[in-house]
Amino acid sequence: MANTLGIIKPDGMRRKLAGRIIDKVERAGLIIRGTKVLWLDRERAEKFYAVHQGKPFYKSLVEFMTSGPIMVLVLGGHGAIERWRELMGHTDPAKAKYNTIRREFGTSIEKNVVHGSDSETTAKVEVAFFFREDEILPKE
Ligand code: CDP
Ligand code: MG
Repeated sequence: MANTLGIIKPDGMRRKLAGRIIDKVERAGLIIRGTKVLWLDRERAEKFYAVHQGKPFYKSLVEFMTSGPIMVLVLGGHGAIERWRELMGHTDPAKAKYNTIRREFGTSIEKNVVHGSDSETTAKVEVAFFFREDEILPKE
């Protein structure tokens, strides 16, 4: 029943895809437990993606993620972490299955529209990166 972190990246926000992505989230039965819109500065983006530091795509990724506003979401429900990853699709939109968000809307391996935590440990850290406890609806 762990929550996960979803992000609609700057490409998704710029292209006004938030509504269509949230529609898919709700149709998939995921529960929105928190959300906000914000604009990451370089320092915050570097910290969020620290695990990728030193990789060839890191600098460009940080540039991209600071290029405009993002929407962050706390998503819950049974198997939310895996289900959100499944709904997003493969990192590379060209390799993602049909009916996934990245397949439908992604334009490159970098500009792939959405982020999702990849494990329970990561989800905890990533949700706490953006949300205080009192900004998240309880699981009841
Ligand atoms: O987002 P996901 O967990 O599927 O992939 P990741 O390997 O954790 O990479 C994080 C993000 O870096 C991706 O979502 C892409 O935006 C970007 N990336 C890239 O630009 N080039 C790559 N070869 C791999 C990832
Ligand atoms: Mg990842």
